[in-house]
Amino acid sequence: MSKLLSHLSYIAVTSPDVEASVRFYEERVGLTVTDRVDGAVYLRCWGDYYAYSVIVLPGDQPSMSTMAWRTASPAALDEAVARIEAAGVQGEWVEVHKIGRAYRFTGPWGHSMTLHWDVTRHQSEPAAASIYPDRPAKRSSFAGAPRQLDHVTIACTDVDAFAKWYNDVLGFRIMARTVLDEAPISVFSVLTTNEKSHDLGVVLDGAKVPGRINHYAFWVDTREELLIAADTLMENGVPIEYGPSIHGIGEQNFLYYREPSTLRIELNTGGYRNYVPDWEPNTWKPSQGSNNFYRNGSMPMSLTESFPPADAPSATEEGVPDEIKDALLNPYAKQGRG
Ligand SMILES: [Fe+2]
Repeated sequence: MSKLLSHLSYIAVTSPDVEASVRFYEERVGLTVTDRVDGAVYLRCWGDYYAYSVIVLPGDQPSMSTMAWRTASPAALDEAVARIEAAGVQGEWVEVHKIGRAYRFTGPWGHSMTLHWDVTRHQSEPAAASIYPDRPAKRSSFAGAPRQLDHVTIACTDVDAFAKWYNDVLGFRIMARTVLDEAPISVFSVLTTNEKSHDLGVVLDGAKVPGRINHYAFWVDTREELLIAADTLMENGVPIEYGPSIHGIGEQNFLYYREPSTLRIELNTGGYRNYVPDWEPNTWKPSQGSNNFYRNGSMPMSLTESFPPADAPSATEEGVPDEIKDALLNPYAKQGRG
């Protein structure tokens, strides 16, 4: 298989109160609105190369509408589509705002993915243009503003099978996985289309709601900026759900908080670069610090909430052993404990 995908290009999310979410992205995250079309609001980080990286759409609940990936070439888009359809999944060609022709499909666990080659590059107004040729716009003067979109982490009922499907069909490299200390249950895996540790994460979902998202993440250049963002979030009444700390897997500095829809946002910086084409994924145990590098704090239970919310985890069904039930209901309970 030739290289099919290059990177995550945008994410579309739904919010019951679009304007409240958009205001938060502008005033608390540091994004700017680039377009408003038919109720959809398009936003971007100062360093995003294309016209937008986030779309906020109206919806009854917080959720992911789609995640979009730019292919490596026009031919790669055709090859990706052929491979998806050969795998038994039928998508459709759609027209996307300031992108044009794109192929949208729903993967085996219900996640919408949009693939495209065509794109519109961001063009700054003169007042916002950078003095540096490589920058699509001036560095933001907003404290802790992210430079660009970073990754998406979805939830599904079979972490390893999800990773295998996206590896087999679209060539995502599987970089690492986490299996519980107590039972052979895979609760987390990271996949990538490039040299980052991940641009697609997968967490175990105890609920049967298809297509859920756990969080998505923006990138800041430095740990100092991440800490300044944490400071200003606290000063402005935005609770920090977890962090700042460092993930063992990927070695990124992280910070989680929620936007008004309750959808979880992460800020990331740092971490390794991995260029090894035949990388064999390592298996971590939570006790090794897969989630918390310092092994000194448990992830809060709230981090297991994915979107849209689900009331009844399948783990509560009869016949599931207590140990596995606990793991499914709280796959992160032991992550970070030494
Ligand atoms: Fe993440």
